[in-house]
Amino acid sequence: MPPERYAKIAGWGKYVPERVLTNADLEKMVDTSDEWITQRTGIKERHLRTEKDTNSSMAVAASIPAIEMAGLTAKDLDLIIVATSSPDYLLPPVSSQIQHMLGAECGAFQLGAGCSGWVYALTTADQFIKAGGYNNILVVGVEIISFALDYTDRTTCVLFGDAAAAVVLTATDQPSGVLAFELGSDGSGAEALIVPAAGSTKPIDFEGIENRENFIRMDGQTVFKFATRAVAGSLKRVVSQAGLLPDDIALFIPHQANARIIEAGAKLLRQPLDKFYVNVHKYGNTSAASVPLAMVEAIEEGRLKPGDKVAMVAFGAGLTWAAVVVQMGEGEISPAHTLFSAGRAAYLAKKAQNRVLDGVQAALLPLYTWRHKSRKRRK
Ligand SMILES: CC(C)(COP(=O)(O)OP(=O)(O)OC[C@H]1O[C@@H](n2cnc3c(N)ncnc32)[C@H](O)[C@@H]1OP(=O)(O)O)[C@@H](O)C(=O)NCCC(=O)NCCS
Repeated sequence: MPPERYAKIAGWGKYVPERVLTNADLEKMVDTSDEWITQRTGIKERHLRTEKDTNSSMAVAASIPAIEMAGLTAKDLDLIIVATSSPDYLLPPVSSQIQHMLGAECGAFQLGAGCSGWVYALTTADQFIKAGGYNNILVVGVEIISFALDYTDRTTCVLFGDAAAAVVLTATDQPSGVLAFELGSDGSGAEALIVPAAGSTKPIDFEGIENRENFIRMDGQTVFKFATRAVAGSLKRVVSQAGLLPDDIALFIPHQANARIIEAGAKLLRQPLDKFYVNVHKYGNTSAASVPLAMVEAIEEGRLKPGDKVAMVAFGAGLTWAAVVVQMGEGEISPAHTLFSAGRAAYLAKKAQNRVLDGVQAALLPLYTWRHKSRKRRK
């Protein structure tokens, strides 16, 4: 019998744009207050893309440390899966831009499942490895969700932020990686979280822009009720499917949308709140980047040890939800490694960002030169 195959999380990285938008900043933009946002959501600030950030550049900055930490080069990757709802362009898929920028020579695809996208992508990558088809897969969650936010709508613009995070899964015969998963969808809730115009049903036009239909619209209370049920229900089912009890889980990593949803989930699962990782106060809801960003920060903070079982859950537009139980691999998360990797990842992310910027500048240089010359000629 061939040895069992598992997909261990062998490397990870994150990229958070420099620009910070605090609740105090938002008070100056819409009719809101730090008190309202903090009490109803737990969010204090969020990061927004700067001019130099694109969806692909952020993804690359998060991916380079993940690939290096896994002891690989981009050429070793067999597949790249990118979960996002805010690609650089409607076409081409941003996954191919990311593959090219990394210098990888493998297949790549973009996966859309709203804020649940990265958990869907992790599960998909795990299946490719378990089936024996591939050995090394990069799984990215990246979002510039601010492009679809209406900064005159206080019910949505206070909630979201931009970020990227990535992991590399590699094949191993040591038990680790995804132990159980649940993927869910209920399209009857499509209208609860939607960008009405800009798709093929209603291409963007002047009327759509006037009605602000190119921005996210959300029925907050419907999503809130759905989310609390989804978090507790899918976590309970996926933990039991892994043959475990909630008490066996070292850390729950929920989608970071609202601290109250996380608190309700903990209560329904009858688990202490301190077993739920929370960073929503720093980043708000970063959609498909939210769960991997929380996982990377939990590792950097020493909240996960080798062999620990961690349960992650996400929910979002669709409506969709997804939950996984993951066992952290033996050996790769020593305290020294964690410290090293956090510092090294920050350094590599910065280096990658500069490399991407240099590339963009080099690509634009002929255009600038041509414009400069044609202006001179006109004079
Ligand atoms: C959006 C959300 C924070 C709103 O909280 P809530 O307690 O449900 O608040 P309500 O929608 O009932 O609104 C209560 C009041 O606050 C007001 N309000 C909404 N946003 C506000 C803001 N940013 N600042 C101040 N007041 C605000 C509303 O207009 C409403 O006023 P009214 O009573 O005069 O009509 C909450 O519903 C939520 O988190 N839902 C889930 C959203 C989510 O997770 N989305 C992403 C999924 S991936």
